[in-house]
Amino acid sequence: MTWYKDAVFYEVYIRAFCDGNGDGHGDFQGLTSKLGYLQELGVNCLWLLPMYDSPLVDDGYDVRDFLKIHQDYGTVEDFKEMVQETHRRGLRVIADLVMNHTSDQHAWSQEARSSKNSPKRDYYLWSRTNRKLKDARIIFVDFQESNWEFDPLTGEYYFHRFYPQQPDLNYDNPAVQQAMLRVMKHWLDMGIDGFRADAVPYLFKREGTNCENLPETHAYLKRVRRFLDENYRGKVLLAEANQWPEEVREYFGAGDEFHMCLHFPLMPRIFLALKREDRRPIVDILNRTPPIPESCQWATFLRCHDELTLEMVTEEDRQFLWDAYAPDHQMRLNLGIRRRLSPLLNNDRRRIELAYSLLLTLPGSPIIYYGDEIGMGDNITLKDRGGLRTPMQWSNEENAGFSVAHPSAMYSPVNDDEVLSYKRINARSQLEDPSSLFHTVRKMILARKTHRAFGRGSCQFLEPQNTAVLAYLRRYESDNILVVHNLSSSRQSVSLESTEFPACLPVDMLSGDAFAPVSRGPYALDLDPYQYLWLTLKPLSQPSP
Ligand code: NOJ
Repeated sequence: MTWYKDAVFYEVYIRAFCDGNGDGHGDFQGLTSKLGYLQELGVNCLWLLPMYDSPLVDDGYDVRDFLKIHQDYGTVEDFKEMVQETHRRGLRVIADLVMNHTSDQHAWSQEARSSKNSPKRDYYLWSRTNRKLKDARIIFVDFQESNWEFDPLTGEYYFHRFYPQQPDLNYDNPAVQQAMLRVMKHWLDMGIDGFRADAVPYLFKREGTNCENLPETHAYLKRVRRFLDENYRGKVLLAEANQWPEEVREYFGAGDEFHMCLHFPLMPRIFLALKREDRRPIVDILNRTPPIPESCQWATFLRCHDELTLEMVTEEDRQFLWDAYAPDHQMRLNLGIRRRLSPLLNNDRRRIELAYSLLLTLPGSPIIYYGDEIGMGDNITLKDRGGLRTPMQWSNEENAGFSVAHPSAMYSPVNDDEVLSYKRINARSQLEDPSSLFHTVRKMILARKTHRAFGRGSCQFLEPQNTAVLAYLRRYESDNILVVHNLSSSRQSVSLESTEFPACLPVDMLSGDAFAPVSRGPYALDLDPYQYLWLTLKPLSQPSP
């Protein structure tokens, strides 16, 4: 039932993954044909970005019809086949659920705008002025100045947290609350394993508040969970709540709200720790993270389909991260950085591996963004977040093996820059090369899956004086794992307080190498630049009596 605690997730932008019918857009047939690749990588659960009918102002997060598959992605039969095939291979699949808003082309919105007396008027938030709810912050700061948009048809303003083409739903309306449950039912009945719920902090709005994390929002989300529990077993709800740890904690409730929440504050601190060569940003934020109920789990990530958001850091750290990772202003977007993992880390294999090692060993279930397992690049000349969503690089053939369409029909150009062109970086060549990033990540996932301590165990940070070293113990039942990272570009010596762990023989589960036994007293290690060790601590055999 709590499978998600041991799972490795993989985020798929369907349009970008594989084009099955040769029209230049990825689709379900294409995705189904690549499930073997994902199985080989070793991930357990796919998270699909919105697959619904949409005019694509926000790449599908503007839903025109919640019950229809986007025509570019194929038919509902293609979708069902993908779900079945995913399950046949022992994988799971969750879908994005866009709860907070619809497209302005959704039938509800069209009806609501047709007249002030429309029965659907109250599905959205209307006002004669644009001065209400003024404490609600603007999220797409590069694109808009207000959360209100004037509707000339009826002469009133409507509220939108994101683009003006994404009017917010009015959750005070019981019909809206009910409608979203019907949407969930529709897809759960087709066998999916749960949802990643989009933008959940913003559902309810109240004058005089910042309209985030309101008690009414939590009450409704608990109702969503009850609906799931009463009707579907073994499914998961993952929250997108870009908030501080104490606030996100509330989305787990007493184990009766979300099963999982994305850990937004941890993510930028991994990049901070790597750049500063100092463990403290990671340790401090995890120490500040409140405990969560037994059945719950954090979802951790390095990159995703959005800009690397810097909302959950101080202004000073934000400036540092911008200067360090986005020196060219074109790399910045809203309060974040629109780059992929590999270019962020200067395409330096050692640092990329180190980042993966952190992702796969810190508490939580990791999510890998498509293409990052082969170190794909980005394209900052494309607008908004398009540069992070270029076609998956399958081979060095035309269109990176993603599609047989004429290049002019492609939804996006393939990445063909000097360093990270598909001609150099592609899945086929990495599958053939046992020393590739793909195979390193695959081996890490495999090792992780053989130890439940990673998904379920406690995490105790050691406190060696050398702050360039991050070391922690992951423990679950009789399993003891010591994870050690050298965050710096130079060799480091470290002395670990071994009273924290028993006399044992550390064996690196990634290389199989045995280390000097631990006995009493500090345990000394010399670490290469960016070295990481996943040491299983095998008890030393007791002397026979
Ligand atoms: C969060 C999604 O991740 C992002 O891509 C989208 O633009 C907004 N929510 C609005 O739905």
